[in-house]
Amino acid sequence: MQIIQKLDSILKDALKEIEDSKSLPSLEGLRVKYLGRKSRITAVLKGLGALPKNERPSAGKASNEIKRKIEGALEQRKEQLSRDIFDGIATTERIDITEPGVQGPKGSLHPISQLSMEIEDIFMSMGFSIAAGPEVESDYYNFEALNIPPDHPARDIQDTIWTVDQTLLRTHTSSVQVRTMETKKPPIRVVAPGRVFRYEETDASHEHTFYQVEGLLIDRDISVANLIAVMRTMLREVFKKDVKVRLRPGYFPFVEPGFELDISCHLCNGKGCSVCKGSGWEELIGCGLVHPNVLSKSGIDPDVYSGFAFGMGLDRLVMMRYGIDDIRLFHSGDLRFLKQF
Ligand code: PHE
Repeated sequence: MQIIQKLDSILKDALKEIEDSKSLPSLEGLRVKYLGRKSRITAVLKGLGALPKNERPSAGKASNEIKRKIEGALEQRKEQLSRDIFDGIATTERIDITEPGVQGPKGSLHPISQLSMEIEDIFMSMGFSIAAGPEVESDYYNFEALNIPPDHPARDIQDTIWTVDQTLLRTHTSSVQVRTMETKKPPIRVVAPGRVFRYEETDASHEHTFYQVEGLLIDRDISVANLIAVMRTMLREVFKKDVKVRLRPGYFPFVEPGFELDISCHLCNGKGCSVCKGSGWEELIGCGLVHPNVLSKSGIDPDVYSGFAFGMGLDRLVMMRYGIDDIRLFHSGDLRFLKQF
């Protein structure tokens, strides 16, 4: 049977060429050559119609078999070639694992984080510990325990973002001080850095979200002199020089007496400039002696213990240190700004 012989000789040629092929593209060429639409097998099959009817099935079967054999040989050779290629790479190419990798861009700590950590260190060196509390706070810890009952007008001093059911975004970290007094017995020395929120329209010096460091010290015989000494020490460390301070009376319901502590203007050194509006002073810290009501509400006997508390805006302090004139830059995410620190 002529056709079968023809097919056999095609198979022999194919197997030899496949065996001799040296690359994946040439192997692909052979696939087209032997199994494609214009292959010799196709040409042979076209002659099938001329065969006697009873011979056609066996010729058809033979051609399918040959195609399968060629496919199998192609597949096997492909595997072999791929393996050879990888083996070649493994012996000719080396990865130098000591070569330094590509460096990604490095971030740095936000200037507010930097100063916050610095201030924590300063207070820790004075024997304070660091405390944290929730940003979503109850009315009790943010106001009531601080001697600000529900209808007290002092609530208007700090515009508040309320959530639901007497819950709010804390307006100061004084709330953490109350939580500390509840759980610790005097002597207490604690600072609470953290994020606080006010219902404020933003402008160059106001943000709805900003950072504070508040502190509390309770012991026997604590006076305003202790307060001033601790504030002076902290400011000297932050500004790396002695800072002139003054106290003015200030009203905060949770302290009595209460003060605003001003520092000599860092820009003009007290001579008067546009930053301090000609006064030579900048307002920085709210402070005072803890109100007896606050102590007794938290279970501390005001006849035995006294203490001082203070609170300051971290954003404001960073602005003073670096001469930054717009508080909104801190949350802008502007890398041109942030990369400078
Ligand atoms: N909690 C006050 C504020 O956020 C600051 C303060 C703290 C004042 C402690 C006095 C004593 O404005």
